[in-house]
Amino acid sequence: MEEKKKSSFSGSIGFVLAAAGSAVGLGNIWRFPYLAAKDGGGIFLLVYIVLAFTFGFVLLTTDIAIGRRTKQSAMNAFGTISKKWKPLGIFTFFVPAIIMTYYAVIGGWIIKYITVYFTGSGHKAASDGYFSAFITSDVAPIVFMLIFLAITSVIVYCGVEKGIEKFSKYIMPGLLVTVVIIAIFSLTLSHTDDNGTTRTGIDGFLVYIIPNFEGMTVSKFFGVIMDAMGQLFYSLSVAMGIMITYGSYVKDDVNLNKSIRNIEIFDTLAAFLAGLMIIPAVYVFMGKEGMAEGGPSLMFVSLPKVFEEMGVMGTVLGAVFFIMVLFAALTSSVSILETIVANCMEKFNKTRKQVSLFMAVIYAVAAIIICLGYNVFYFNITLPNGSAAQLLDVMDYVSNYVMMPIVSLLTCILIGWIVKPKFIVDEIEKNGVMFKRKTLYSVMVKFVAPVMLFVLFLMSLGLF
Ligand code: PHE
Repeated sequence: MEEKKKSSFSGSIGFVLAAAGSAVGLGNIWRFPYLAAKDGGGIFLLVYIVLAFTFGFVLLTTDIAIGRRTKQSAMNAFGTISKKWKPLGIFTFFVPAIIMTYYAVIGGWIIKYITVYFTGSGHKAASDGYFSAFITSDVAPIVFMLIFLAITSVIVYCGVEKGIEKFSKYIMPGLLVTVVIIAIFSLTLSHTDDNGTTRTGIDGFLVYIIPNFEGMTVSKFFGVIMDAMGQLFYSLSVAMGIMITYGSYVKDDVNLNKSIRNIEIFDTLAAFLAGLMIIPAVYVFMGKEGMAEGGPSLMFVSLPKVFEEMGVMGTVLGAVFFIMVLFAALTSSVSILETIVANCMEKFNKTRKQVSLFMAVIYAVAAIIICLGYNVFYFNITLPNGSAAQLLDVMDYVSNYVMMPIVSLLTCILIGWIVKPKFIVDEIEKNGVMFKRKTLYSVMVKFVAPVMLFVLFLMSLGLF
């Protein structure tokens, strides 16, 4: 156990890969495309990219530098910086705790689709209503979720997460290549509706990359910003303590400035490509309305249609694709559960095995409840950001739109006003590293980010 606490990444590559393994996951492949589609494509993409390299950069830098400077995980890091701020560390802990409840559910959906392609039933998955029939059924979603949760728990129980991170060195590039192949194929699609309108993949591509401000209102635009910010937190694994913990494992001679840039680029690229694979296809088969309505099911409904169009090759590619997504999802879910378990081990002085078992049971129960949100506990409410929501979406909303803005807002106040940005800047500039976006960082963390976060927070509660 002592070993573990002192463990650190072998160097900057090891750190970037591990952090990217946590960052790149279902957020990029499943969540980003459906938000982009819902918010009309180009506008979302533009807002997201601008925010990623300003706002996301500030949050990521802050988390990682806090970790390396204090050499503590989130629960203790804030208390180390300032005694009075200890509760923030505790609150931060609850963010991954909530995310884990539904991450396992979606992980289960991925496993289901692996079995679909391995048993050669891809054509069934391409038919309308297949996905909703699956998630509304009583038993199957629970069984698949439990399989995903079991794999995650066993990895954390055995303390071998470094092992799967090694694996992700091969899986991540493989995933990117597969996504690019599917994306290129998506661009060649074409479909004619009953009423004679034809839409092509290229049309869909243009919808994805060119912002179309037609019919845009101020309040809709704020909605887009809100979605993009929530997505940023989620996708970069910031504002939930995970990057603080990772930062605490980074050796002092690693160039943080460069590592952070690489993580940002990698994560954003993965999201962009996932959108490129899914959005043109959704546009081709379902038009603009389909884009707006897809929600969390988007990837599971649209990709099978793309694979179907590819014929036999589609079955193979479908199987390969979902296997790789499973790995990306596992590296993320392991990082979530690992943070939870590591914190509880420290706090309650229990062994890794005891805590992992306990958590596995708790999450099995919680995730079963989420699965039942599509049948027994079904409801349909409209969230303040305008999307229709079931239980899973509500959990997602609470973590990404309510809790993460609070964590980030308080972190920015602590860094910007109490200990001053120099606290972070010094850490980045250690060993003579040049912090290129230093001014941007200081201005953002003191003024821009807190204001944006505060507005976001009010909006997410429907007060603005
Ligand atoms: N960032 C991960 C993704 O994009 C998800 C994640 C969320 C990972 C929370 C860790 C913690 O899928």
